[in-house]
Amino acid sequence: MWEQFVVARVQQPSCYPKRSSVCHPSWSDKEDGYTPPEFTHDSVILNAEDRATGGQWADVQNPSPSLLGKRKTFVGECRQDAVCIRDTSCAYDAKRQRYLFPGGRTGITGRGLLGRFGPNHAADPIVTRMRDGKLQVILIVRNDGSGLLAFPGGMVEVGATHTETLKAEFTQEACLPGGAVDRLFSQYEKRTVYRGPVDDWRTTDEAWIETVAVHFHAPDDIASSLDLEVTDKDEVIKVGWYDAAAVVDSMYASHGAWLRKVLLYMEEEELFRTRASGPSYPLARR
Ligand code: BGC
Repeated sequence: MWEQFVVARVQQPSCYPKRSSVCHPSWSDKEDGYTPPEFTHDSVILNAEDRATGGQWADVQNPSPSLLGKRKTFVGECRQDAVCIRDTSCAYDAKRQRYLFPGGRTGITGRGLLGRFGPNHAADPIVTRMRDGKLQVILIVRNDGSGLLAFPGGMVEVGATHTETLKAEFTQEACLPGGAVDRLFSQYEKRTVYRGPVDDWRTTDEAWIETVAVHFHAPDDIASSLDLEVTDKDEVIKVGWYDAAAVVDSMYASHGAWLRKVLLYMEEEELFRTRASGPSYPLARR
């Protein structure tokens, strides 16, 4: 699995220490002399659950192993539902009492900028439309120093579901709420494109992001009623419709891989549709 997680081994936000180099990413292989730096950003410490003064979105410094074992993960064979991480084959560091990134060694321990040990859950809405025969998608430019194009997704808050988060993030980062958004999310879901760990530059050996990326395809009337506007200006620089094929190779984290999947099946469906309604062939003469 570690082959898909290159960003998590070689990139990092500017506040991170340099990752130590990794020769054998897989936890089942030995890596002699592996002593990665430990890093947890101050914002994570200051927003711990036990601090009355912060946002309480992060774990305490040493949560109990039994609590960590109950965390849900999508890692495993095509999981439809998240399962407790202790019931998977996810690697575990018994000495530090922490579960390890399923994508392998990253060259940093601690939590970096992530609040939770183990999986940190996110949800990503992929909203598309057809325009002049091309598939277009709603993307944001992230305000995190990367400046990259991404889906308007975000972290699942305590007590919220992935489904609620998809719509909440869409309306905070990309589009004003209203009837068109409600109809899009309730009637035009096409499929879940991906569930599982993300190749994100914030990943550490002990903390990673897992997302559920869901595709919604807007018919013309809904697409033209969507009022694109950024509400959460701390997270997002701008939002817009982009030609999917033109941006698929230069997106944030693993987002391009999910969009590529969407492009492929939408193209197949379009081919199928035009063939089905295409020229009818004269019946062979008897
Ligand atoms: C973003 C999601 C993204 C996740 C993993 C979150 O900060 O909002 O869109 O999938 O990180 O990269």
